[in-house]
This record gives sequence, C-alpha cells and structure tokens, in this order.
Amino acid sequence: MPKLSVIGAGNVGATCAQRLVEKDLGDVVLVDIIEGIPQGKALDIYQSASIEGFSSQITGTNDFSEIKDSDVVVVTAGLARKPGMTREDLLRKNAAIITAVCENIKKYAPNSIIIMVSNPLDVMTQLAMKVTGFDPKRVVGMAGMLDSARLSAFIAMEAGCKPSEVSAMILGSHGDSMVTIKSQITVKGKLWSNDKLDALIERAKNGGAEIVAHLKTGSAFYAPSSGAAFMVEQIIKDKKDLIPCTCYLTGQYGLSNVYIGVPCRLGEKGIAEIVEIDLNNDELATLQKSANIVRQNFALLL
Ligand code: NAI
Ligand code: 2OP
Repeated sequence: MPKLSVIGAGNVGATCAQRLVEKDLGDVVLVDIIEGIPQGKALDIYQSASIEGFSSQITGTNDFSEIKDSDVVVVTAGLARKPGMTREDLLRKNAAIITAVCENIKKYAPNSIIIMVSNPLDVMTQLAMKVTGFDPKRVVGMAGMLDSARLSAFIAMEAGCKPSEVSAMILGSHGDSMVTIKSQITVKGKLWSNDKLDALIERAKNGGAEIVAHLKTGSAFYAPSSGAAFMVEQIIKDKKDLIPCTCYLTGQYGLSNVYIGVPCRLGEKGIAEIVEIDLNNDELATLQKSANIVRQNFALLL
C-alpha cells in the first residue's frame, strides 16, 4: 500500500484524507499541531471503513516523524487571514508554517512528492521547492484543478449538462490573474461559447470569495480537497492525464524560475511532462503577468 501523508487536519486536510482512504489510494497519516484534532478526525474517518468499504488505514498524529518514507505528502497547513492582517502579513505567517512543515518533509520523507495546497498557492509551492531542495518535478501545486472545476460547474449550469461533460482549463496563478483558455472550452466534446461566458469565467475567478461569503467563517474545502485527491490518484496510478497544475517552469511559455499553473502530466515520479498548448497573445500576456506577481510576492520572503 502506498503511504500518503496530509499535513494540516483542518477543513481541506481532513476532507482530503477522507477522500484518499475512500478511494483506497493508500494508508494515510494525518498531521496537525493541535493535539487531538488529527487523532480524533482520523479515528472518526476510520470508523466509517466498514460502511464505506475501504481497506486503507488512517491515523492522526502531532508527530512529524510518523510521515517517515511517505510516497506523497499533501500540505494544507496554514492560517486564514484575520481582521487587521495585510496580505503581506499572511504571506509571511504562512511562509513560516510552510518552512517548518517542509523541513520535516525533507527530514522524514526525502523521496516523497509534495502537493502544495496552502495559500498563497504559487508562492508556497515555490517556497516548498526551495526549503526541501527537491527536484521541482517532485513539488507541485493544486489550484488549476479547483479553478477549472469551478468553471466547469458554472458552464454546466448554463449549458444544462453534467459538469463532467465540460472540458475547461484555467492556468496562471491562483488569484486575480488566472488565465482561462476560452478558445478550447468544450461541452460534450464540441467547442462551446455563449454571451455569458465572460461572466461565468469571472464567477469562477471569484469562486473562493463566493464560498467565503456564504460560509462567513472558513473557506471552500470540498472542491479543493477533490482537486488534491485527484492529483494524488494521478501519481499513485501513474495516470498522466493532461491536467492543470502549478509547476516550476524552465523556459516553457517563455517563463523560467517561477511556479505557475500550466497543463501537465502527473505520474509516479511527479511531473512527467509540462505541455505547451497554443495560447493567443492575450492569454500569454496574462500568464506572464501572473508569473510576475508570483515573483514579486516570492521576493518579499527573500
Ligand atoms: P483550516 O484552518 O481549516 O486548517 C488549517 C490547519 O493547519 C489547522 O488545523 C492548523 O492547526 C494546521 N496547522 C497550522 N500550522 C501547522 C503546522 N505547522 N503543522 C501542521 N499543521 C498546521 O484551513 P483550510 O480551510 O483547511 O485551508 C488550508 C489551507 O489551504 C489555507 O492556506 C487555504 O487558504 C488553502 N486553500 C487553498 C486552496 C487552493 O486552491 N490551493 C483551496 C482551499 C484552501
Ligand atoms: C479558494 O479558492 C481559498 O484558495 C481558496 O477557495
């Protein structure tokens, strides 16, 4: 059985752990710094095993040494922005958390593949690569899966089809400058557009804020945990489907030394391929703008 660790037993982490065992992708170790939370949630999830019919094990702990020799580590640890905190304050606080987490991953799971979920996503993914010193092929971020799935849901509502019948890809950074590849959206295999498409894209861009406005406390976690669990499955089953992930670029799309959302193939060794699809000038310019924002934010940490 593969060994999977999920760091952070909050909303995204615990739901991701649940999805991983329900899909029987491996034995899961759920880690958090709060005593009792990962233990209690893991035990609760495990007690559903006979009902759900899964055979994976799940345990909760506050001890990072228990992630020893994990194949995949999903990182969801972090703080949400609190009143009075600037974005830069949050960036620095989450950077301190991710640095501590990644030092432990480097120590106990040096051969693992890291899937970063914590925000600000692109910068935290780049920080994870820097702190661990891992080959960038083994450090990947989850955002494009979520942003694209949100757009698919909104298009399905408009087109009157199932979200799974929509193919739509959002690239770039997980923020205001995300890039939708409008010209390649399909419904049931056929190119799709209508006069509401721009509004649907805007809704997808603000998808996280829309959920926060409903929940009042906390942010989205069902769809984000699906995105992360799907990426784990791509790795464990060496599937290599074409999906959007936050990858380290080395010249692709004219960009280097930066993490940004691009189409890629994930397999048992991590990022097997970064795929360069045709982008028009506007799409390319927005991708480059996205990359500059990630660079500026990463520079704040240096
Ligand atoms: P949450 O607040 O429910 O859970 C975060 C957990 O991290 C807490 O249980 C906390 O105790 C734990 N934690 C803090 N420091 C830790 C450390 N050093 N080691 C281990 N655990 C630690 O937050 P939620 O909703 O689960 O979100 C988690 C992160 O994921 C946030 O940064 C959020 O912004 C981000 N996120 C990213 C998305 C994406 O598309 N990339 C989508 C949704 C959330
Ligand atoms: C989202 O998009 C908070 O990044 C998170 O829901």
